[in-house]
Amino acid sequence: MVQKIVIDTDPGIDDAMAILFACLHPELELVGLTTVFGNVTGDVAARNALVLVDIADQDIDVARGSDVPLVQDAKPYAWEFHGREGFGDLPPREPQGTISNLTAAEFLCETVNRNPGEVVFCAVGPLTNLADALALDPSIAEAVKSVVVMGGSLDAGGNVTPAAEANIWQDPHAANRVFSAPWDVTLVGLDVTHQVICSPADFAGLARAAPTIGGFLDGAAQYYFEAERNRNGMDGCYLHDPTAVIAVIRPSWFRHRRAAVAVVETGKRVGATVWADSAVRHPVSVCVGVEADNVRRCFLETIRSGF
Ligand code: RIB
Ligand code: CA
Repeated sequence: MVQKIVIDTDPGIDDAMAILFACLHPELELVGLTTVFGNVTGDVAARNALVLVDIADQDIDVARGSDVPLVQDAKPYAWEFHGREGFGDLPPREPQGTISNLTAAEFLCETVNRNPGEVVFCAVGPLTNLADALALDPSIAEAVKSVVVMGGSLDAGGNVTPAAEANIWQDPHAANRVFSAPWDVTLVGLDVTHQVICSPADFAGLARAAPTIGGFLDGAAQYYFEAERNRNGMDGCYLHDPTAVIAVIRPSWFRHRRAAVAVVETGKRVGATVWADSAVRHPVSVCVGVEADNVRRCFLETIRSGF
């Protein structure tokens, strides 16, 4: 069965990996991209999403979303890991296509209302657009098939602060609205994405097998490898966003714990995701285990199948 998916994204190097994976995998129909600030500015996120559609040589709608968080002042962009232009040292490219006339929130609502029960939202950036969509049309919580979020960390510590993971830290108020809404949320956080790692040799192999798509990802990933080497002393990179997309099509590769999750909105631990009381908040499915080798292999084999 082919699964319809909208990816909400702040592209971003691992976002590019996730989006090109979704373009290539036969069990996914990428209905659209909605863009959000986070790794980069809102302008760069929107441009980069259009560029990825060009690289994939597919006709995919791109709708632009928020440039700023719902409530808090904007946090610094993740330029250390993605570069100011979003794809590391690769020079910025002008896209061929144009942004949709719909906002991201309008696109998300219209897409699920045209295909009730069929569309999965996969959010791999800050959750501002999903919160805006819920405010625009609360009934999407029933119309969407499910929501898969790359974000948070229940027991694995943070990656932008000791307590917070980047996507949630960028907009904690939006995350609280998404995690408390009455829809089916799966949380793919650092608890599992820190187990899914690819090496520079893996990406060099992608470039040989698929010179256009693999070559682009290998070129962008060099900056990511350098940042991980400097920050974490590792020789490789985490597949944060591709792991969330793979959770859409291979949920059995993940072990889940059903519980409510809350987000700290202020203070030193702002952006931290914490276990909450399911008696007073809608529970989510938190990924607490993963068959990491299967996820890594699925990503590499799918990109190698490209061009
Ligand atoms: O913490 C990792 C997440 O933050 C990924 O989505 C990455 O692209 C950044 O957005
Ligand atoms: Ca991202």
